[in-house]
Amino acid sequence: MKKNEKELLLSEEEMDSVREETGTEENLTPAAKEETDAAQEMSAEGTEASEERSGETAADADGTENDNIIICDNLVKIYKTEDVEVLALQGLDILIGRGELMAIIGNSGSGKSTFLNMIGGLDRPSAGRLIVDGKDLFKLNERELVEYKRNTVGFVWQNNARNLLPYLTATENVMMPMLFTKSASGKREKALELLEMVGLSHRKDSKLSQMSGGEQQRVAIAIALANSPKILLADEPTGSVDVKTGAYILDVFKEINENSGLTIVIVTHDRMLSKKVHRVAAIRDGKISSEMIMKQSYRNRMSEITALTEVSEVQDEYSILDRAGRVQIPHEILENLHLEGNKVKLEYVDGKVVISRPES
Ligand SMILES: Nc1ncnc2c1ncn2[C@@H]1O[C@H](COP(=O)(O)OP(=O)(O)OP(=O)(O)O)[C@@H](O)[C@H]1O
Ligand SMILES: [Mg+2]
Repeated sequence: MKKNEKELLLSEEEMDSVREETGTEENLTPAAKEETDAAQEMSAEGTEASEERSGETAADADGTENDNIIICDNLVKIYKTEDVEVLALQGLDILIGRGELMAIIGNSGSGKSTFLNMIGGLDRPSAGRLIVDGKDLFKLNERELVEYKRNTVGFVWQNNARNLLPYLTATENVMMPMLFTKSASGKREKALELLEMVGLSHRKDSKLSQMSGGEQQRVAIAIALANSPKILLADEPTGSVDVKTGAYILDVFKEINENSGLTIVIVTHDRMLSKKVHRVAAIRDGKISSEMIMKQSYRNRMSEITALTEVSEVQDEYSILDRAGRVQIPHEILENLHLEGNKVKLEYVDGKVVISRPES
């Protein structure tokens, strides 16, 4: 069992307190209700609190529903296994703008894939609010969900075997998702266009089994784009290729984003990636803990950023304050305080909030 996995296995009392804090009963689909007792057992108190909160959701508060293609509000995902409940997302809040190229980083088990799978409609969230391209994912029925998966999102996985057919050529593979949507010549034309976009025109007639891992991954990107999705989701797309190939694949994402304005969300372990995207959000224990936003000066000349540039020069790092006023303090910073217990002193001094060791 992974370390974080252990941390996420909560006792009954802990689960109760999380249920109270994160519950939003009004948003639960019947499927999600069945899936988790948490939703069914929500206390009246918890529901009241959530109603209060849902009135001030990001989308309502500043009318950003049009600007933000993904609105993720207090999102909870609980996996129930035989004897334990795993809280994979613990009230995750994030807004992702239309046309944004962003990365999600975080330790193993922090909830990155879970988050991506929720956006991709591959799994249902347990509670909270998730609106993608104006569609409330809690309200979609099975048929609408199939439609959503086909037309709104494209997915690229680390292990490209998941969406590739080795005995077909690159072109045939890219044509596959268009099976029901286009005429035969339309499909071929579009497939060739996409292969050119990912720099593989010269390999269009090669069988997948004769292509390298990096080339196959580029075919996978073309496949994900075949139905002209609004959002491209990639889970560790460079995880099984070497550094150079990984960098090339990220450049392909960057180019697609710049040329077509497609929203792209990439999950990765690779911190170097932060130089290539507009924003990096870090997930810790199922919640966004910090965000690094590319400095405007660099955004204007992204293409000039070299491998030698320090990440800190490229991006500003921010911690995320949730609505209840909580902020996660990174371990590296907290260690410097040498705390003995779990109490800290909080003061407001000269326009700054200062956290210090309590005087003994
Ligand atoms: N289907 C499932 N059933 C039970 N628990 C699950 C399931 N999927 C994920 N989890 C648990 O939820 C937590 C978050 O998992 P997730 O796969 O989202 O992590 P991750 O950040 O993608 O990790 P990695 O970097 O290793 O891919 C983990 O504790 C994981 O064990
Ligand atoms: Mg994962």
